[in-house]
Order: sequence, then C-alpha cells, then structure tokens
Amino acid sequence: MFQLIDKLERDRTLTKEEFIELLNHITHETSEYLFEKARRISKKYFGSRIYTRGLVEFTNFCKNDCYYCGIRCSNKNAERYRLSKEEIMSCCEQGYKLGFRTFVLQGGEDPKYSVEAFADIIRTIRTNYPDCAITLSIGERDYDEYKTYFEAGANRFLLRHETANEEHYKKLHPQNLSLAHRKQCLRDLKKIGYQVGTGFMVGSPYQTVECIAEDLLFIRELEPQMVGIGPFISHQDTPFKDEPSGTLELTLFLIGVLRLMLPNGLIPATTALGTIHKNGRELGILAGANVVMPNLSPVKVRKKYSLYDNKICTGEEAAECRMCLQNRVQKIGYELVVDRGDFKPLDSMEPLEQLA
Ligand code: SAM
Ligand code: FES
Repeated sequence: MFQLIDKLERDRTLTKEEFIELLNHITHETSEYLFEKARRISKKYFGSRIYTRGLVEFTNFCKNDCYYCGIRCSNKNAERYRLSKEEIMSCCEQGYKLGFRTFVLQGGEDPKYSVEAFADIIRTIRTNYPDCAITLSIGERDYDEYKTYFEAGANRFLLRHETANEEHYKKLHPQNLSLAHRKQCLRDLKKIGYQVGTGFMVGSPYQTVECIAEDLLFIRELEPQMVGIGPFISHQDTPFKDEPSGTLELTLFLIGVLRLMLPNGLIPATTALGTIHKNGRELGILAGANVVMPNLSPVKVRKKYSLYDNKICTGEEAAECRMCLQNRVQKIGYELVVDRGDFKPLDSMEPLEQLA
C-alpha cells in the first residue's frame, strides 16, 4: 500500500481500481504513512496556518427532502427559522470584530428569499466588508441566479456533490433530485468564476468503496478549489435514523488522500468530524486539513440547524467558538489566521517550508 500512496503523491491521482485497493487496505501503518505525507504537503504550502471561515446558518427551511438531512422538508419536528437581513448583518458585524474575513452563508433551499432580496443581502455585505470573502452554500439554483449573486459580490460557493455514483445518489435523494443536475450546477459555478467547493459524506448509507473511488475521480476531474468531507451522522427524524455513522478512521484517511490530490486545496476539518470524536477537528488537521468553520449564527437558532444528532457547538457564543478553536489548533502546533485565505494556483505559491 505504501507504493500506492507514493504513486498518489507523485501523480495526484490513482485509477479507480487502485483507489479501491488502497481503501480496502487501510491500516494504522498506512494511515500514519499517508498523514505524514499530507502534513508535510500542507506545511509546505500553508506553514502552520489554519484558515477560519465564519458560518452563518441563515435558514433551516428547505424545499428538498434529502433522506439523510435533519432539515428536510418532511421533517415536521424541525422548528423552522429564517434570519432577517438585519440579523445576518449583525452576525457579520460580530464576526468581523472577531477577525473573520470570510463569511459563509449556508441554508436550506428556501424560496422565501427572492433572488433580489438575497442579492441585496450579498451586496450589503460586500459594501460593508470590502476586504472579506463571501461564500454561499445554498444548494441548486439556475445559472442566472448564481450569476446574479456573483455580480452582487459573492466569491465562493460550496456545493457537495454528495456521491458521484448515480445509483447511490438515487438511494440518498428523492426522484426529483439528480446527480446530473448537481454536477451541472458545479460546472455553472466554475464557469461564472466562483471558487468552488464540493465534497461528500463519508459512510453515508449504501456507500461502497467503489462509490468513494468514483467520488475521488470526480473531484480529480472537477478540480475544485475546496473539498469538504465529513462523516454521515444519523438524525432521529429521517428515514436513515438507524443507520450507523461514518467512521473517524475512514474520514481522516480520505482527508489525507485529498491533501495528496490537491496540495494547495482548501480542506476543512468539519463540525461533523468534531461531533463523532472530541478531537476530530484536530485529528483532521493532522491528517492534512487546513480550514475550520466556526459558527457565527445567533445562539437562539443554533440547535434548530440540526442536520444530524448531537451536533457540537450549538450552545456557545461566536466569540467562545472562535477562542475554543484557537486553543485547540494551538495545542497541536498550528495557528488560526485572520486573512481571507483565497485559493492560489500551485505555480503561484512559494513553498513556505522545504520538503525533507
Ligand atoms: N442546502 C445546501 C446544499 O444542499 O448544499 C446547503 C446545506 S446542506 C444541509 C449542507 C451539507 O450538509 C450537505 O451537503 C450534506 O453533505 C451535509 N449533511 C446533511 N445531512 C447530514 C448528515 N446527516 N450527516 C452529515 N452531513 C450531513
Ligand atoms: Fe435541504 Fe438538507 S434537505 S438542506
């Protein structure tokens, strides 16, 4: 397996069969070998810098019914909320004071925000915080809508493809949603000029190693600037309530694989990873991740943005979340940085540290 990892480092990809072989032979030794390489690559390009993004979960209304998701429209137990423009602006104001220079607006697909109203929110953030990046994570929209938001001042977009395997996609989503459309959205976003993030859940129901190999090859083909992966965690009010969660071991291994594939990529250590293990996010960084996304949403709505059970960081104020992460990151020898942390092409990056 060590040779396959060496090959992955050299070629930044493997064949589908090789990925499957690698994923079928994860051991403590192969993981350590991979993480060592992944850490060296992140240190080379990012030093010990960990970028931070302030997450504003602005609505938990969603017209979709994804089987895995706690805020799916048929979950009648979800207590719904949406933030007003003023509330969103106050999250950004607080975030800016805490040093955040990227705001991520995430939510369900909530038709109540008209295109004009949402563009107006983006425009206001852009005007008030010209030095900040604005990231959207609002699901599938049409080309013109994405373009309107880009022109209003949004720079980045997170849209996980969820799974690159057609059959698997159908097992996770109702009939009206398709992998083809999700992929089209990703291509549209790239074409418009967004920095794009994709990703998938690790250990989602019916996922096989073949599915994961296809995810990795899709990521290779798309060449996103960001990739977010986290373990699937069940939610009590969904059809997948009895399904087991994705594992820490596999999620970390895949973060390492992604770092070898995308040396300059922005790869978060996600909240879901922090939920399945108390040091999940630190372990994610030690496996090659270089981004954390603390929550800036008002505490009164935090628990309501419940995608999965036992989500962490739902009771703390934004300042506490930031300090907590800063301490965690420092303890393992890294530092949280305040700059925007834009993606940079590999050939424009000066290596910060020589690879041994
Ligand atoms: N509506 C937007 C979208 O579809 O991209 C953004 C919000 S959606 C809740 C954000 C991500 O949460 C999804 O892409 C999915 O991967 C993740 N997610 C949803 N349910 C989850 C679960 N039960 N466990 C782990 N991650 C989950
Ligand atoms: Fe829409 Fe989860 S089903 S955000």
